[in-house]
Amino acid sequence: MYYETEKNDHGLPYNPIKACVVPRPIGWITSVNADGLVNAAPYSFFNILSYSPPYVLFSGGGHTEDRKDKDTVANVRSTGEFVYNMATWDQREQMNNTGLIVDRTLSELAETGLETLPSTLVAPPRIKGAPVHLECKLHEIVNLPGHDAMSTHSAVFGVVVGVHIADDAITGDGIFDVARYKPLSRLGYKDYAWTDESVIFQMEKRAPEEDFGKPKQAAE
Ligand SMILES: Cc1cc2nc3c(=O)[nH]c(=O)nc-3n(C[C@H](O)[C@H](O)[C@H](O)COP(=O)(O)O)c2cc1C
Repeated sequence: MYYETEKNDHGLPYNPIKACVVPRPIGWITSVNADGLVNAAPYSFFNILSYSPPYVLFSGGGHTEDRKDKDTVANVRSTGEFVYNMATWDQREQMNNTGLIVDRTLSELAETGLETLPSTLVAPPRIKGAPVHLECKLHEIVNLPGHDAMSTHSAVFGVVVGVHIADDAITGDGIFDVARYKPLSRLGYKDYAWTDESVIFQMEKRAPEEDFGKPKQAAE
């Protein structure tokens, strides 16, 4: 099949686009508003973009026709800080519930019974139980025009200034055993996936000369 996004003429019962780029890591973002109220929400338009220093990106759609920003985006606009918390299988229900609360005067953390840990370099706290926390400072917010207010997105770029990794997930060889905590990712529709050891495999990096089709030199 083929369709054009301007026409949205896919002819399917549901728009398939979110199932076309999978799995998407879930950025479970904590932020605070100007009064210090803590906010948490999941964002699957999320990824890491570089590593030295690391930059991350999440993208928030319109809230309602009259309320432009989602709370997380509004908070980052006003305070310039946020924390990425890795969402895992064990905390899947709480993660999902933090995405359902839209009352700006409520803290999703208190409402869902999540505990927090203080951050080191930024004001938003970390979600206890998440095996990775990335403390981030705002780099830039880019407006992504949509077909309407709800589909207009704000792409929030942050630079990571502090990294926490659960000690019990670091192996004796100094490797972060990411499968231990079963990180969640988002597929299309209502589908999610987790990563565990059963789906992980290794491939050797190819030598640069092979990439250009040159035969590898025989070892001397
Ligand atoms: C797994 C998951 C992923 C989500 N990803 C996004 C996303 O990438 N962008 C977005 O605007 N909303 C996303 N949502 C919806 C928001 O989490 C939801 O609108 C939430 O209420 C926003 O909270 P906030 O206003 O406190 O930021 C997602 C929800 C779930 C459950």
